[in-house]
Amino acid sequence: MAILVTGGAGFIGSNFIQDWFANCNEPVINLDALTYAGNPNNLNTLPAHAAHTFVHGNIADRELVGELLTRHTIRAVIHFAAESHVDRSIHGPEEFIQTNIVGTFRLLESVRAHWNTLEPAAKTAFRFLHVSTDEVYGSLAPTDPAFSETNRYEPNSPYSASKAASDHLVRAYHHTYGLPVLTTNCSNNYGPYHFPEKLIPLVIHNALAGKPLPIYGDGQQIRDWLYVRDHCGAIRRVLDAGQLGQVYNIGGWNEMANIDVVKILCAALDKESPRADGKSYATQITFVKDRAGHDRRYAMDARKIERELGWKPAETFTSGIAKTVRWYLDNAAWVQQVTSGEYRKWIATNYS
Ligand code: NAD
Ligand code: TYD
Repeated sequence: MAILVTGGAGFIGSNFIQDWFANCNEPVINLDALTYAGNPNNLNTLPAHAAHTFVHGNIADRELVGELLTRHTIRAVIHFAAESHVDRSIHGPEEFIQTNIVGTFRLLESVRAHWNTLEPAAKTAFRFLHVSTDEVYGSLAPTDPAFSETNRYEPNSPYSASKAASDHLVRAYHHTYGLPVLTTNCSNNYGPYHFPEKLIPLVIHNALAGKPLPIYGDGQQIRDWLYVRDHCGAIRRVLDAGQLGQVYNIGGWNEMANIDVVKILCAALDKESPRADGKSYATQITFVKDRAGHDRRYAMDARKIERELGWKPAETFTSGIAKTVRWYLDNAAWVQQVTSGEYRKWIATNYS
């Protein structure tokens, strides 16, 4: 028996696979299309015992997915694969519709066909865990309560709309076909292997390269940050003990304005890798044009997963940021490799 991880060469997927083998030996089949965000080198540091099989392919390929499910006796699918960057979804939504909606639909169809062939015990034990985001719930006003699992869906970007659609498909496959699904909606992650198009790794990368640190609009937008390995632990917990058909919100209880996140990063870098001229990296902060339709505030009410499954984050923002900054300083070669070619084109497009 094995689990099938989709998007396991991306940021969270690769952290999940590392976390998996730090906790058990069950084989992982990792299906990833290796888009610009996928990097097989993220898995170079897996321990020798890791039964990890990488498959280069698309979640929408029904023949391939069907074959993988049968050949490897898959008992659970953990679905990370997606287009994940809001700014890219604003510049070009098509890929988001294809992967996040059509891709998830095709994956669900492949899984449903496989699940229908299983013996009753295997059918009961099977799980499809869909990894989603807090962004499906829309934007909060400053004094609104945090998002709960029953919050109305109000997605505002093509990215969040495509994730919302995928959440609805997953829900429908449970309701209509009885597919044993679980959905997790998580807040903003940060940590090692985070592609430097997202705020935290972009700021670390630009700071060290002596480039401007771009803050959209007034920098007062709030996100709820969670260290990526905490997210991975939550997913394992939901896989083990989550109730079928249920949704679990995952968050860090750590709301921060973007400008404050960037100042904390600058202070950490000032300490760990001071600039040659002795000035703070904060002098590189540059306010730029705001993102179109920019959501003002996200915050997760993660009490359900704590109450029902006993999960809560282990890292504080201080400890998580310290680990993250250290990782980027120690892994300059990784950053160098992922910031060549296509990456440069994206930076030129988004910040022109
Ligand atoms: P990522 O962009 O770093 O990685 C996505 C991975 O999916 C890449 O390896 C890519 O090659 C792969 N992929 C893309 N399209 C594919 C396809 N059609 N078939 C197979 N593989 C494909 O994303 P991430 O930040 O690791 O996010 C993973 C999941 O978690 C996504 O579903 C995202 O919506 C969700 N999520 C992310 C965050 C966050 O802060 N990053 C927060 C909550 C939820
Ligand atoms: P991001 O990391 O793209 O995640 P998301 O949009 O999914 O929350 O952005 C986090 C916040 O940082 C968001 O409010 C947009 C803002 N941001 C900037 O101010 N400057 C940047 O260069 C980037 C990439 C993001």
